[in-house]
Amino acid sequence: MSDKDKVFIFDTTMRDGEQSPGASMSLEEKIQISRVFDELGIDIIEAGFPIASPGDFEAVKAISKILKNSIPAGLSRANKKDIDACHEALKSAPRFRIHTFISTSPLHMKHKLNKTPEQVVDAIKESVTYARKFTDDVEWSCEDGTRTDMDFMCKIVELAIKSGAKTVNIPDTVGYTTPSEFTKIITTLKNKVPNIDKAILSVHCHNDLGLAVANSLAGVSAGARQVECTINGIGERAGNAALEEIVMAIRTRNDLMPYTTGIKTELLSKASKVVSNATFPVQFNKAIVGKNAFAHEAGIHQDGMLKNRETYEIMTPESVGVKKTSLVMGKHSGRHAFKEKLSDLGYVGVTDDVIQTAFGKFKILADKKKHVYDDDIAALVDDSMVLEKNVINLKSLKVFAGTGEPQKAEMTLDVYGEVKKTSETGDGPVDAIFKCIKILFPHDVKLLLYQVHAVTEGTDAQATVSVRIEENGKTTVGQAADTDTLVASANAYIAALNKMIIKRNKTAPMMELENEKVRGI
Ligand code: KIV
Ligand code: ZN
Repeated sequence: MSDKDKVFIFDTTMRDGEQSPGASMSLEEKIQISRVFDELGIDIIEAGFPIASPGDFEAVKAISKILKNSIPAGLSRANKKDIDACHEALKSAPRFRIHTFISTSPLHMKHKLNKTPEQVVDAIKESVTYARKFTDDVEWSCEDGTRTDMDFMCKIVELAIKSGAKTVNIPDTVGYTTPSEFTKIITTLKNKVPNIDKAILSVHCHNDLGLAVANSLAGVSAGARQVECTINGIGERAGNAALEEIVMAIRTRNDLMPYTTGIKTELLSKASKVVSNATFPVQFNKAIVGKNAFAHEAGIHQDGMLKNRETYEIMTPESVGVKKTSLVMGKHSGRHAFKEKLSDLGYVGVTDDVIQTAFGKFKILADKKKHVYDDDIAALVDDSMVLEKNVINLKSLKVFAGTGEPQKAEMTLDVYGEVKKTSETGDGPVDAIFKCIKILFPHDVKLLLYQVHAVTEGTDAQATVSVRIEENGKTTVGQAADTDTLVASANAYIAALNKMIIKRNKTAPMMELENEKVRGI
């Protein structure tokens, strides 16, 4: 296939994706994710918003140094300070992209920016021209593009290209458009903007109406050649278009969408895993990367599958890196086999300490549980990775539950190296456990979610518990697995709390522009 038919994949998991409630990632997590993305074949990785915080700046800087194939990008508003910060963070990469944006809808210009259209036009010219001083690779976005007046959009797209933008991105910032409307927007730009052939048109869709992927693909069919998306579809509010869905739709329906992407689809599961480990779990029925995406439950489907896979399978699990779930190892399996298994399951860059902890837990589990499956091993490693970063750790837990007696928990915690003990009663064992944590590490957070899933089948299955908490508008998610649901509950809450502590310590945004909060885009 010719170059003309290539659709560039611009990933914004670590920028727009990180704006999901509960999705903040540490520097180490971002580095780990970047390595996987680089291998996956993503063309451009938006590594962050450098002016937003020192943490974002450092992440963009570190990622720019390690990418071997992908081009790093940083986001900036339409001002010199933002663009300077972007350049400073990206400059160690041999090639980099500055992505600058400004709102262009009547609503945003008036109420968010408090600027006239003429002032916005001036800001576009100045910002794009300024960014071009640092790199040939400048992308310009018209925020709230799908609610922007079409004649105005044609005029400013032409101006941005004239000022030096090589990529022009049309965001559906609030997830408002539909496939037919978006087709019309892209087609109008292609037909009416005289210099449109001098830039690549890009689409960036949010999922508020569940249409992000459909709208992105409509944009591509109408002539866009870059899609901005995130792994697992994470992102502001209902999220962004999911990278894995875009890529697999193009691959599976290549008869209708004759384009190519550079994505090595067999690595999609691994990418999903590394992102969900750092953020939150993927829903079971999520297309492509959900646990049930290739599971066939109904007898009639299973029968069809046995006769011919294609009866109910439009793509193979192997094509996205899902290996057939196997009965893995038993208690006699050694450390070497365990390590091999981890790499098979897509765990890269796992430290020796984590392997050691996970292997110890595996041995205990193999003693308790008849069958140890791949998913069990994955849960153990995920758990060990969380524990490695904790400043609060569970040392011991005893729970008294059942009928009659009040439910009670006795707990010992290691809090910043100090061992503390307490016992509390509660409205149920989980309530008693959470109360103990609150006594031993006083804090004031709101519990938004408490969820339990069995990792595999059987009453001896491990339970994965997810806990989401909120403090001053910031949310974090903790996950933990154990054959004892109550131990998993305690560890999940503690993991969420540890992440909140990291988040608290992140410095506040470096600057604010007019009435626009840096993160409030
Ligand atoms: O959704 C949006 O408009 C954005 C822009 C900054 C590209 O994320
Ligand atoms: Zn966005």
